[in-house]
Amino acid sequence: MEQVVHLRFVLYFPELSDKGNFLLRDLPGSGKRIDVLCRSLAACFDWGPSILDKSNLEIIVLIGGTSCLRIGNPSNMMPRGEVWWARVIKDALSGNYYPFVSVENQSLEEVAEAILSNEKAHLWVLDDAGSSINQRNLPDMNAQNSFIIGDHKGFDSEALKVFNDHSIYRLSLGTASYLTSHCIAAIISMYEEVVHDVAER
Ligand SMILES: C[S@@+](CC[C@H](N)C(=O)[O-])C[C@H]1O[C@@H](n2cnc3c(N)ncnc32)[C@H](O)[C@@H]1O
Repeated sequence: MEQVVHLRFVLYFPELSDKGNFLLRDLPGSGKRIDVLCRSLAACFDWGPSILDKSNLEIIVLIGGTSCLRIGNPSNMMPRGEVWWARVIKDALSGNYYPFVSVENQSLEEVAEAILSNEKAHLWVLDDAGSSINQRNLPDMNAQNSFIIGDHKGFDSEALKVFNDHSIYRLSLGTASYLTSHCIAAIISMYEEVVHDVAER
């Protein structure tokens, strides 16, 4: 039987501006490390997956505390490279329409509560100090698994409070501190290995 995997990455980027007023020629500086987000989007929808159906992948980005971007598979509108992704984010935050992006007012806590209220969904935090995750102990393949990942600085006290208040379990990819985009690619790759093994049986 074909294994269908649904993955969602919830990126907590409180320092980004929700105004989209950064310069495309200076993403790290004027965009307050929006390049980290652009690389994460490319990891999820472009170079990360090879066998997972990209329409079952989603990124939710929490920007500046109360804005929330939901990004699905861009399919044939796929932006190429960091600057293209930055242009999409800038446009979407300025009110321009993209069929694969929606902008809402939601906090991390509201997003977490919505996910936790779905009994077929699981929510995890990726944290190097959590319990080890690998191909052999991946969270339930048949559920919708969502992974919260921090920005270049990790998590602030507000995020840690949400994790504690809602008892969100921490999973670790190892003791090294990886880039956000690497974490996304690593999770996708682990699920792909399992899907590949199931298909080979
Ligand atoms: C560049 S890291 C943040 C580094 C930050 N200086 C810190 O100490 O948290 C970005 C995010 O990737 C995730 N991450 C990085 N390495 C990880 C690991 N080994 N296991 C699980 N998650 C990891 C975490 O969610 C982290 O907040």
